[in-house]
Amino acid sequence: MRLIVLGPQGSGKGTQAESLAALLGVPHIETGAMIRAEIAAGTALGKELQVYNDRGELVPDDIIIRAVTPLVTGPRGWILDGFPRTLGQARSLDTMLAASGYGLDAVIALAAPDEELIARMAGRRYSASTGLSYHLTTNPPPPGDPGPFVQRVDDTPERMRRRLQLYHARTEPLIAHYAACGLLHTVDASGPIEAVTKAIVADLGLAA
Ligand code: AP5
Repeated sequence: MRLIVLGPQGSGKGTQAESLAALLGVPHIETGAMIRAEIAAGTALGKELQVYNDRGELVPDDIIIRAVTPLVTGPRGWILDGFPRTLGQARSLDTMLAASGYGLDAVIALAAPDEELIARMAGRRYSASTGLSYHLTTNPPPPGDPGPFVQRVDDTPERMRRRLQLYHARTEPLIAHYAACGLLHTVDASGPIEAVTKAIVADLGLAA
């Protein structure tokens, strides 16, 4: 199965992609996490990426496409989270898949109002020991996770607004692109986490 999870910041792409990857037994490819790992490793590329990431700006297409290409062109399926997010990236992915002979099965577009998205990002915390992501009220850390729980540098009010602005301008056009390909499944992501997972599973005709 080759799936893209598309949606604005805070819609639950990471949360839902993780569950779907476990359900389908395929890797969860998350470009945001790849970028944060490169920054944490302190490499020359990481220093370059940090400039974009910390300001909430998009990393240039050529850098992202180079990193993703070897991960998506093999025979194994995947769930893509955070890629593509520009029409240039989507067209590159179309070309890569056509050349490799493996097609895309579906694109899940998560939808929720901007005020809800801001509240989710504002309450998000990552465990420094396990790397898992939680929410202070809707998805609190379990007692077994020792933390400490830290906020992302791009989850500040100004950067959240900028990231959502970029989503509407640069990523939203992908919805029409994938609708035209007959691959789009729009899912209401404003409900609780488990309800959204159920809706995706039902929409794709998967057995939970
Ligand atoms: P990335 O890490 O992809 O961040 P993002 O796009 O800003 O998306 P988020 O991680 O904020 O949202 P999400 O939808 O995954 O939400 P989550 O599941 O965590 O990218 C970071 C940066 O990397 C970008 O700004 C850019 O610089 C760069 N980048 C990455 N990919 C790129 C690309 N392709 N091209 C160019 N640049 C790129 O959920 C959010 C919170 O809400 C969590 O706390 C969660 O527990 C909670 N939650 C989730 N679902 C629900 C629910 N249904 N109800 C209540 N709470 C919920």
